[in-house]
Amino acid sequence: MQYLFGDSDAAAQRLKLVADVFAGTTRSFVLDTVIEKPDILADLGCGPGHTTRLLAETLRCARTIGLDNSEHFLSLARQSAQGGVSFLFHDVSSVPFPMEQGDLLYCRFLLSHLKHPRALLSRWMTQLKQGGLLLIEEVEWIHTQNDDFALYLSIVEAMLQDQSAELYVGRELDRLRDSETMGRRISQVGRLRVSYDDAATMFCLNMQTWKHQPFVRSNYSFSAITKLEDALRTLSMKKSGKSEIEWGLRQIVFERI
Ligand SMILES: C[S@@+](CC[C@H](N)C(=O)[O-])C[C@H]1O[C@@H](n2cnc3c(N)ncnc32)[C@H](O)[C@@H]1O
Repeated sequence: MQYLFGDSDAAAQRLKLVADVFAGTTRSFVLDTVIEKPDILADLGCGPGHTTRLLAETLRCARTIGLDNSEHFLSLARQSAQGGVSFLFHDVSSVPFPMEQGDLLYCRFLLSHLKHPRALLSRWMTQLKQGGLLLIEEVEWIHTQNDDFALYLSIVEAMLQDQSAELYVGRELDRLRDSETMGRRISQVGRLRVSYDDAATMFCLNMQTWKHQPFVRSNYSFSAITKLEDALRTLSMKKSGKSEIEWGLRQIVFERI
């Protein structure tokens, strides 16, 4: 399955901004949730390694491994890898992972891009030691009154649905209940207001990649996409403390039984 948001330099620049915007929310979630320091931790779909570094710094575990299937992102991630942190190529839709069983698995903004998230979670649980935790942060909703943001989000939602994936996958994850191998320990929604210019910059950078997708070309006119891009670029330059966009992040924890 193709990852629609790409791994170009613009995609890496967007993920740096994503990392800055969501760092506080993620750090609090991890600190509030993880009581015992894990020995081995894997960050699934680590991209250029921002989440991996944040986890390593926050939890100070012996080994932190970032897994991704983009060689370009992995090469960027390795440039600033510190002691105990490594990055490996792996398609996380298949197991086993290229590591011993972990104490903690983490993923953020990945399941929106993958088919059959429930089946994936069952597979991932097999890569944890008994008592190990799987921490997930995925989009539950994004609220905005701004028409350009709303149009952007509707295109991304449709594009992902066309791939049998779900932008607001947090809702589906929240419907998951305990099974023989996994026990749900936490399910909550963290809210984050994002400034106008940060949201518009993230969206504008992302459009550089997906505006060329066949789905977009066949369902939206060139002029509509260009108009949206121009509108987002203008918003990205409008420094305003006011936020008209808010993310709801489903934060969920499963324990391997
Ligand atoms: C939206 S980015 C999120 C990056 C990081 N988790 C964060 O929150 O900043 C999704 C990442 O998942 C990776 N990815 C997508 N499908 C994957 C797969 N099947 N296996 C491994 N990585 C995958 C992409 O290359 C990309 O780096």
